[in-house]
Amino acid sequence: MLYPLPAVMVSCQKPEEKPNIITVAWTGTICSSPAMVSISVRPERYSYHIIKETGEFVINLTTEKLAYATDYCGVRSGKDVDKFKEMHLTPGRCEGVNAPLIEESPVNIGCRVKQVLELGSHHMFIADVVSVEVDGAYMDQKGKFDLNRAGLMVYSHGEYFGLGKKLGTFGYSVRRKK
Ligand SMILES: Cc1cc2nc3c(=O)[nH]c(=O)nc-3n(C[C@H](O)[C@H](O)[C@H](O)COP(=O)(O)O)c2cc1C
Repeated sequence: MLYPLPAVMVSCQKPEEKPNIITVAWTGTICSSPAMVSISVRPERYSYHIIKETGEFVINLTTEKLAYATDYCGVRSGKDVDKFKEMHLTPGRCEGVNAPLIEESPVNIGCRVKQVLELGSHHMFIADVVSVEVDGAYMDQKGKFDLNRAGLMVYSHGEYFGLGKKLGTFGYSVRRKK
């Protein structure tokens, strides 16, 4: 019941095999320095063994435009279909890892697995962030990355949403009025 969450598309690939995508909602930032993230994946997923064996994956943030593909990659298995092909997505080179990124996503986070926690239904991959690629289209005139213009998507209790209205900015509750 801990919602809303990002629903990310995690891309992965074994050498000489087709690239795959799994939608993951059990994900999070777990450390700032060193930068670390986690994803929790059921061992029965086709992607589980790819990530376990290669020790690499890419977290691709999802947008309203990618909502359909995000859902599809979360209900079809790579053991039956080529999700990149079916969803007309483009695998690209991700700095620092051999797993492919998804070109259509505005932010790609290259990850290397450091530890696997066998928690129960899901095994948690704890990973170092080895690279972050951002789409230059969301840079403002001052060269600042404005991620909120990317149309990011959230997942809440079985439904996908765009972002709602802006309510404030970090620290606004204590900031002095000019
Ligand atoms: C919104 C959404 C979130 C999901 N989150 C997770 C998750 O956190 N962990 C997981 O193992 N499966 C999750 N799934 C299910 C997998 O994405 C799904 O079983 C997928 O078909 C597995 O693909 P694969 O067999 O190609 O690896 C989610 C599905 C959806 C639609």
